[in-house]
Amino acid sequence: MSKDSIIHLKNITKEYPGVVANKNVDFQVNKGEIHALVGENGAGKSTLMKILYGIEQPTQGEIFINGEKQIISKVESAINLGIGMVHQEFTLVPSFTAPENIGLGQEPKNNQGLIDWKGLNKLVVDIAEKYGFKVDPGLKMIDASVGVQQRTEILKTLYRNANILILDEPTAVLTPQETDELFTVIRTLVDEGKTVIFITHKLREVMEIADRVTVMRAGEVQGVSEIKNTSISELASQMVGREVFLQVKKDEAKPGEEILNVEDLWVHDARGLLAVKGINLSINKGEIVGVAGVEGNGQSEFVEALTGLRKTSQGSIKYLGEDIASSSPKNIRRKKIAHIPEDRTNTGLNTQLSIWENLIGNSYFRRPLSTRGIFNLKKIAEHSNKLKEDFDIRAPNISLKVKSLSGGNQQKVVVARELSEDPVLTIASQPTRGVDIGNIEAIHEQLVQMRDEGGAVLLVSAELDEVMAVADRVAVMYEGQIVKWVNPKEVDQAQMGLYMAGIKE
Ligand SMILES: Nc1ncnc2c1ncn2[C@@H]1O[C@H](COP(=O)(O)OP(=O)(O)O)[C@@H](O)[C@H]1O
Ligand SMILES: [Mg+2]
Repeated sequence: MSKDSIIHLKNITKEYPGVVANKNVDFQVNKGEIHALVGENGAGKSTLMKILYGIEQPTQGEIFINGEKQIISKVESAINLGIGMVHQEFTLVPSFTAPENIGLGQEPKNNQGLIDWKGLNKLVVDIAEKYGFKVDPGLKMIDASVGVQQRTEILKTLYRNANILILDEPTAVLTPQETDELFTVIRTLVDEGKTVIFITHKLREVMEIADRVTVMRAGEVQGVSEIKNTSISELASQMVGREVFLQVKKDEAKPGEEILNVEDLWVHDARGLLAVKGINLSINKGEIVGVAGVEGNGQSEFVEALTGLRKTSQGSIKYLGEDIASSSPKNIRRKKIAHIPEDRTNTGLNTQLSIWENLIGNSYFRRPLSTRGIFNLKKIAEHSNKLKEDFDIRAPNISLKVKSLSGGNQQKVVVARELSEDPVLTIASQPTRGVDIGNIEAIHEQLVQMRDEGGAVLLVSAELDEVMAVADRVAVMYEGQIVKWVNPKEVDQAQMGLYMAGIKE
């Protein structure tokens, strides 16, 4: 073992009733490095880190910090050893400001034994400055952006003198710009002598930020590599346990007749501001049109207008020649327009209901699933089980409530329901957000298959790699307008980055 090993988890096993979450895991981190811990949902990453942070006790195994064996029986012990953790779900008090949250329970006191608020604010601002953050000490967390909330969580660990920071999927909730800001923060932390464990399943991020990476699958370590000696495809196959095709396999599109024609479309957002400013776009049978762009440039409002969730202010949306602008969502659905919404838990699913109830959400009122208002339960079970199989929804049975599925499997329920309706036009908005790499591949294949069977597909995604790999033609959106049309085979990421920043040519 190298002498600068700051953490060494040896032979860790953690059993929950019916699940081995970690199996003989060996995990070692060097002082001052950014160490990525990657794996699909359920691989055991959070469990391993909860063991290091004293939230969970291992069934078996040993923990060494700075070469010394430690029993970390509670979070307090971990904090005393200089370990801090920022969880996937934040633990901030919404009505408190950043300093109030950061100091919580450990506020400095004045000589009357009362909380020294001024002193606390100064301490927090000083720490923030040292690490190059900005904090607004008066801002309540409820009014703060996700990025600011996350930085407050990081400051909280620094306030408690953390030397080793565990960030559990910190970028899952961030926009690309916020991710860049976080990476700057992480680099500053390391420059100041901290060690960072960065959990993610986004391999591009691993390649960008980490020094070394440990890959887990099904509770076990699959490999440890130096970033300079590995690649995205090697990490992906370790994660998934088979070769993964990051390049989507597809033939040239064979576009047919026009299905959708959007002309001079203008749409206001929820605050009444113009979000879409004169979009023109058409989609033909047998092609996938992509919309790329940094989130918040009008893509959401554009999709909402197309699917009837938002009224249009001007312009037309012609679907098979008929103007459907400002029709109801129900009307639009009836016309065989499928919608995979970006917000699956609110718009896409009823998570309180079972898998089968969600799967038949659009078709239950039709034969053969029901006749004159009466469910045919046998047909429904057949139909749902077939979709479960075809779309690889991982669940013991179709009666399970959707809320107990992983994010990736929830998304597969939405995709299965929408694509099984034999749509003429499919509108997919961020269809792989929060979905594992193996499942991303499956969803991409489904979209390409829709196309090859003569469907028209609109793919809106903030993941540039996704749009470029899946779409046949790509529109770049910036501030409510399409600033550029590109052939994804003819541009590179750097050029796309410029278009996405609004630089036209
Ligand atoms: N408190 C718990 N009780 C029972 N099973 C759990 C618990 N926490 C995690 N698991 C299971 O352990 C496995 C690993 O989960 P987790 O460590 O959260 O994975 P990851 O963070 O890589 O997504 C999963 O199968 C999960 O369902
Ligand atoms: Mg996790």
